[in-house]
Amino acid sequence: MVKNLLEGKRGIIFGALNDKSIAWKVAEMAKEQGAIFTLSNTEVACRMGEVIELSKKCDAALIPADATSVEDLKNVFEKSQEILGGKIDFVLHSIGMSLNVRKKRPYNDLDYNFLNKTLDISAISFHKMLQVAYQMDAISEWGSVIALSYIAGQRTFCDYNDMADAKALLESIARSFGYIYGRERHVRINTISQSPTMTTAGSGVKGFDGLLDFADRQSPLGNALAEDCANFCCAMFSDLTKKITMQNLYHDGGFSSIGMSERAMHQYNLSFQHHVDPKGHEKNE
Ligand SMILES: NC(=O)c1ccc[n+]([C@@H]2O[C@H](COP(=O)([O-])OP(=O)(O)OC[C@H]3O[C@@H](n4cnc5c(N)ncnc54)[C@H](O)[C@@H]3O)[C@@H](O)[C@H]2O)c1
Repeated sequence: MVKNLLEGKRGIIFGALNDKSIAWKVAEMAKEQGAIFTLSNTEVACRMGEVIELSKKCDAALIPADATSVEDLKNVFEKSQEILGGKIDFVLHSIGMSLNVRKKRPYNDLDYNFLNKTLDISAISFHKMLQVAYQMDAISEWGSVIALSYIAGQRTFCDYNDMADAKALLESIARSFGYIYGRERHVRINTISQSPTMTTAGSGVKGFDGLLDFADRQSPLGNALAEDCANFCCAMFSDLTKKITMQNLYHDGGFSSIGMSERAMHQYNLSFQHHVDPKGHEKNE
């Protein structure tokens, strides 16, 4: 195992809610690799949640922010630089929420106020974060910013609902801002498209257990776990990946390149009831 990959680096990690959260695993791994960082989440999550425990464990200050509020984000970047003693080297955006998903509004009967919230929380917050950091010149040269995405941004998955639109926008923001931030300040911006992962946000998606199992059977390497994602994020925060920017990086055990695997086909075939009709013909139903 590599050691001290992030020694001397200062970061901000948004979105650790509980020990299932991908951001939680990233914080643990970043700590293990020698980084110092602050943590941020909503006011409620910071006041009542398990993230207080993580903040103690990682010796990381907890700065509440609603990621849709530019003022709150300015405060996070200001305080983080004060506390950590300089510009920020890495940022993780691990934030997603859809009220349409929560309230079970199907994609052909969306509530548009909810849709605006989905896009603001899950995608536009990323633009706000980048714009705040850019205007404050808060990220150091060769800094690395990652947001977490999902393949529903490219392909349709039943019941992923308006989060698919949010992910497509999130990935587009990474490219558009990545161009400017790269050109002007040598800061790299990428999204990591992660396998389905059993977390609070993930399990909110209807039929999530089935999706997780399907993805696992389809992927030659099996699903990437939250811990695997934390390793990948830390590699992306490190100096070993300096020339990667404006990418959507699949971290999914090969899922995104598979059409149909043997394991998935086997399971699919089991779902047919095999029987012989009165004329002696074999039938699958
Ligand atoms: N779990 C999966 O299957 C999966 C797969 C691919 C990508 N992702 C993405 O990973 C990211 C992290 O999700 P997770 O699966 O770890 O779930 P999670 O529920 O642990 O994390 C979601 C976080 O978003 C935060 N959040 C919600 N609204 C916010 C707001 N207004 N301001 C600030 N923070 C807010 C929540 O408090 C929570 O910490 C999300 O972008 C999610 O879409 C998840």
